Amino acid sequence: MAQRIPEAVIENVRSQANILDVVGQFVQLQRSGKEWFGLCPFHSEKTPSFSVNEQKQFFHCFSCNRGGNVFSFLMELEDLSFPEAVYRVAELENIDIDQQYSPQNTASTEQENSENGQLKHLYQTAAELYHYILMQTKIGQPALDYLHQRGLDDALIDEFNLGFAPEQKILAEYFSSHQLGDYQLHRKSGLFIEKNDGTLTDRFFNRVMFPLRNASGQTIAFSGRALVRDERTPKYLNSPETVLFNKGRLLFNFDKAKRLIRKSGQVFLFEGFMDVLAAYQAGITNGIASMGTSLTDEQIYLLRPIAKEVLICYDGDDPGQEATKRAITLLNEAGHFTVKTVALPEKLDPDEFVRKYGAQAFQKNCQENQITVLEFYLEYFKKGRNLQTESGQLAYITDVLSQAAEVDDDLQVELTLTKLAREFALDKASLASQLRVLKQEAGSQRAKAQLESPLVKVTNAEHYSKVELAQRTLIHYLLNEPNAYLYVANLPSFQFENVDYQALYLLIQGYFSKYQTYIGGQFLDYLGDENLKKLVVSIEMEDYGAYSEEELKDCIYVIDNEAPLDTRLVSVKRELEQAKRQNEPTKIMELTTQYIELVKLKQTVADDNR
Ligand code: UTP
Ligand code: MN
Repeated sequence: MAQRIPEAVIENVRSQANILDVVGQFVQLQRSGKEWFGLCPFHSEKTPSFSVNEQKQFFHCFSCNRGGNVFSFLMELEDLSFPEAVYRVAELENIDIDQQYSPQNTASTEQENSENGQLKHLYQTAAELYHYILMQTKIGQPALDYLHQRGLDDALIDEFNLGFAPEQKILAEYFSSHQLGDYQLHRKSGLFIEKNDGTLTDRFFNRVMFPLRNASGQTIAFSGRALVRDERTPKYLNSPETVLFNKGRLLFNFDKAKRLIRKSGQVFLFEGFMDVLAAYQAGITNGIASMGTSLTDEQIYLLRPIAKEVLICYDGDDPGQEATKRAITLLNEAGHFTVKTVALPEKLDPDEFVRKYGAQAFQKNCQENQITVLEFYLEYFKKGRNLQTESGQLAYITDVLSQAAEVDDDLQVELTLTKLAREFALDKASLASQLRVLKQEAGSQRAKAQLESPLVKVTNAEHYSKVELAQRTLIHYLLNEPNAYLYVANLPSFQFENVDYQALYLLIQGYFSKYQTYIGGQFLDYLGDENLKKLVVSIEMEDYGAYSEEELKDCIYVIDNEAPLDTRLVSVKRELEQAKRQNEPTKIMELTTQYIELVKLKQTVADDNR
């Protein structure tokens, strides 16, 4: 039975963890005043709009408006449930936590009833159905033969829950006869294609099915390989992106590989997931792959906390080499990693190599044929060049040196210079001085790029109406100033104008009846509701200036006196517009008078308030 993590354990993790350390393992942060800024890991951007406030233990991105505490950060980033995030934070921060709270033992009860939980249930059911068809039925036989012939044995097929979606579409029928999910859920699942008349039909048929799992091992999408190649359809068909499946954030096999990656510090990066499976079968179980797209920053963030060394083992053909170069560049930009490549002979891909030369030869090749980044470039830049000509040689040497300028490992650079000097009968010292020039150029370009992307700081006061700003300021005071809280709590009939702020106020009262002091990260978990959490984070990441009782009273006055006027103004204005549309002269007259009076009244109140 699912095990809930006791409040005291959560509290222990929360109080020992520092959001800055945790986020810092995924995002490069730069300090600016009280806050730390960086590129948001949840979407791609060129200028930082993501910030972390260490004091409050919050993060917030004012571009995508995500925000929360250390747990929400990991829930969002690694698609974890709350208990999983608590455990993960403990792991990342080396905080003692009992094994019984590990994800294996806390299959989250909360999530089972949520929409995401229901979707995961659909995928799991579909995966089991496809697997059953592959292993146990006659229509699955050709697909099973195909997988065997590709060198995958039954144990591996079971472990990865591979399956077969037959020609005759079965899923829609199966779900409805077992009453699994409703129409809307099926639509959202991406397992079906919606026809013009709105009916749903299986997306996958006549395909070998590969369940795609998230970092916690839950199936959240599929990729299907055509059993019979047909030019009209792609070789691999992936689920469309859904709330749960984001191609750029998924690493195939990450869930199974991460333990060994963490232990050994080493990860093999493959191009296709058939390669991951072939390598796994051959005994290399710390292999992962991106989903047919080039590696993304977000995927690199997943690797950062657990891997030190990345071994790129892409296909030996030309596209594979281009992809290798892109991956090296991205990984170098992230800093942190030692990057090497594994060379495969005869333009083979890893899967072909295993089939041709066997598991042992593959293992041996992966261990012994590791090549440094600069060795890779020594080969790579030869392609398409005539090295017999002087200009060809110069261009080649410059390319290699400009990559050497990006490498911090002095020995590796030394070796490369020696090789170049020998190959072209050059003086090593002149190569070294050329390298220094390139290094300086690279350095000053980086500095320039940094200057060109100044940190953008939020200035909010202008965005809000006066009443809105007063409400936000007051919430901020209520949380952070005990005196303000006492003062407002003693007002007999105070109310916020906006329902969300009022809801927050009631929750703040609940929170302070349970906890003595306000701790931002803790308050968020107390709230529960996602929208309210976001609201609190966005309020708390803004600047409200110094607190005084004067300021406090101002806020209350504005909310008490201007808010009702504002509300009435809006409704009179709406009625007036309607009267105009319906052409009712008397009503228009009446409402216009009312409107003008309200505006005047508001003016007086505002003047009083000055
Ligand atoms: P490859 O075509 O190199 O795959 O594509 P592979 O592993 O050698 O496939 P087999 O051996 O022919 O079965 C590499 C990756 O690109 C994505 C898949 O993720 C695949 O693993 N891909 C490829 C697609 O998404 N769609 C395609 O049509 C082809
Ligand atoms: Mn292949």
